[in-house]
Amino acid sequence: MTKTDKNTDNVQLSDIGSSSPPKTTTAKLQVQRNTRKYIIICVIAVIVIITVVAITVAVLLTKRKTKPIIPIVEVNGNTTWRQHGITVAGENKSGNELSKLNGPRGFDLDDDLTLYIADELNHRVVRWKVNASKGELIAGKDGKGNKANQLESPTDVVIDKQKHSLIICDAGNSRILKVNHHNLAQEPTAILNTSCFSIMIDNNGYIYISETFSGGIKRWKEGQSHPEVIAGGNGPGNDLYHHMFPMYFFVDHNNDSVYVSDAYNNRVMKWLKNATKGIVVVGGYNNTNNLIYQLNVTNGIVVDNSNNIYVADRENSRIMRFTEGSKVGQIVVSGKGVGSMVNQLKNPEDILFDRDGNLYVVDCGNHRVQKFFIDKKR
Ligand SMILES: *[C@@H]1O[C@H](CO)[C@@H](O)[C@H](O)[C@H]1NC(C)=O
Ligand SMILES: *[C@@H]1O[C@H](CO)[C@@H](O)[C@H](O)[C@H]1NC(C)=O
Ligand SMILES: *[C@@H]1O[C@H](CO)[C@@H](O)[C@H](O)[C@H]1NC(C)=O
Ligand SMILES: *[C@@H]1O[C@H](CO)[C@@H](O)[C@H](O)[C@H]1NC(C)=O
Ligand SMILES: *[C@@H]1O[C@H](CO)[C@@H](O)[C@H](O)[C@H]1NC(C)=O
Ligand SMILES: *[C@@H]1O[C@H](CO)[C@@H](O)[C@H](O)[C@H]1NC(C)=O
Ligand SMILES: *[C@@H]1O[C@H](CO)[C@@H](O)[C@H](O)[C@H]1NC(C)=O
Ligand SMILES: *[C@@H]1O[C@H](CO)[C@@H](O)[C@H](O)[C@H]1NC(C)=O
Repeated sequence: MTKTDKNTDNVQLSDIGSSSPPKTTTAKLQVQRNTRKYIIICVIAVIVIITVVAITVAVLLTKRKTKPIIPIVEVNGNTTWRQHGITVAGENKSGNELSKLNGPRGFDLDDDLTLYIADELNHRVVRWKVNASKGELIAGKDGKGNKANQLESPTDVVIDKQKHSLIICDAGNSRILKVNHHNLAQEPTAILNTSCFSIMIDNNGYIYISETFSGGIKRWKEGQSHPEVIAGGNGPGNDLYHHMFPMYFFVDHNNDSVYVSDAYNNRVMKWLKNATKGIVVVGGYNNTNNLIYQLNVTNGIVVDNSNNIYVADRENSRIMRFTEGSKVGQIVVSGKGVGSMVNQLKNPEDILFDRDGNLYVVDCGNHRVQKFFIDKKR
């Protein structure tokens, strides 16, 4: 659910989950009676069930939105997470072995719990099965540089499910690369030359990027000559028209709006469609030019279906939630200060939720990805 596109496939998905088990149990009882007739009925029933499930799954797969994953479990203002996280990628120290990361930034998660991570200081993108002891090199196999198989300081990655490819923000080369992550023998191709920091994609094939220096969030689709600005883009500043180095953002299609995590203004801005200025929804300044909430560099951002905002508070090394309209945040995880213990983070970057509502955090300063399980007792 990073950089998300809210969708409503949830109900249908949970329906499939509950439709097959009771029928399988019935089938087993029938078999035990051991008469031919029942066996035949049973076999036919199983075939019918398998066909129905297969068709339903196929329909859902073709209908599914591209990015991101929306939890089936409803995440709302009352949801809590276990404070002890587990490390699902990387170790506590940096390195260039495949078991380590070095300054990871943005990431994405596939439905089968595979992470794709922009391993910035190793100039590569790795694929990492959640909990695996090491990752696999997906892009940047020829090291740092600007050739097709090279990257320089990649900052984010997004899975394009419709086109079965991976899109990489190769920030140091100011280009966007497309990689076929199902066939690594194919050379990556540059699809757009543009500076970018984080990246997402919607169901209509629009790619959204943040551009830190101009402070703009832009949108582009293959075939267009250049991206169009949809928020900010007027250079640095701290009024309602400007951003200061916005890195992460979140596109909300329910409301045709973009939430911009305005890093060095320590605030989150919301831009409605076609707006010429933003609305401060979290943090920012009061009329005396003082910061009104103690956020210190806002990073990764997700907005849930109840419009609660989750944001990585980088220099305070914690993840915060702001319920809609609230100026006061709640600590979601890592309230114990900076560190590398299981209940701590060090300079978190990107965040996302999986389908079960578990929270994943790129714990950049600890060179690892942490997973915090959702609390079931609510
Ligand atoms: C959260 O809990 C409060 C108090 O129990 C309740 O009034 C409120 O409706 C809950 N909110 C949601 C979104 O479930
Ligand atoms: C990862 O490991 C934890 C225990 O450390 C376990 O609870 C969890 O189910 C595992 N997840 C996956 C996807 O293997
Ligand atoms: C990007 O720039 C490079 C080098 O200038 C050029 O070779 C390439 O064709 C450009 N790619 C696109 C998609 O515009
Ligand atoms: C969209 O956002 C605007 C501004 O925050 C708000 O007034 C409006 O109610 C929102 N609409 C929906 C459908 O959430
Ligand atoms: C936004 O601008 C586009 C093109 O200028 C226009 O077609 C659309 O109606 C506008 N939408 C809103 C909500 O103002
Ligand atoms: C602005 O914020 C500062 C720091 O929190 C506070 O001391 C001051 O009273 C606030 N001023 C106004 C006008 O709200
Ligand atoms: C923000 O974090 C930086 C770097 O850790 C620190 O120097 C600064 O004092 C912090 N600012 C506030 C207002 O806490
Ligand atoms: C990271 O370090 C903490 C203590 O600082 C330790 O509890 C944890 O097990 C370590 N994790 C790994 C993956 O080495």
